[in-house]
Amino acid sequence: FPSGLFPTGASDTKDVNQMPRFITKTISQSVESEIKCSHKIPSYNKIFWYKQGKDKALQLLGYLNLDNPNVEEELKGKINFDGDGRNNGSLSISDLKLNDSAVYFCAASFHSAAHLSGVNTKTF
Ligand SMILES: *[C@@H]1O[C@H](CO)[C@@H](O)[C@H](O)[C@H]1NC(C)=O
Ligand SMILES: *[C@@H]1O[C@H](CO)[C@@H](O)[C@H](O)[C@H]1NC(C)=O
Repeated sequence: FPSGLFPTGASDTKDVNQMPRFITKTISQSVESEIKCSHKIPSYNKIFWYKQGKDKALQLLGYLNLDNPNVEEELKGKINFDGDGRNNGSLSISDLKLNDSAVYFCAASFHSAAHLSGVNTKTF
């Protein structure tokens, strides 16, 4: 991964897990808390979520701070998070469109910016 990208608050792949590897849906369905992320890093209290679309660019969707979801302004109503940033969280995406087809990543952090973790933490 482009490791220089988010240099702070690094979470190691082996300490962060994401399930499942793949989700397949049809247009207008929703992903309801089905993309799950967990970590066991004491002191880390935030779970960040990213989308990597066709153009490969990474888009920050927002993060869970303890049990408070902070969804990026333009994605409110579309994306939601639940859980607790200290342990686990899940991602929901409503009213799926073709352009929601992407790789979704989670990362754990104690900072306000997260380092992306590796291959385990992806859902296609
Ligand atoms: C977090 O983990 C607990 C215990 O495994 C589970 O009951 C809960 O549904 C999980 N929450 C999320 C948001 O994934
Ligand atoms: C995705 O497609 C929908 C219509 O299918 C459009 O309304 C929306 O703006 C698009 N989102 C992005 C991020 O391009």
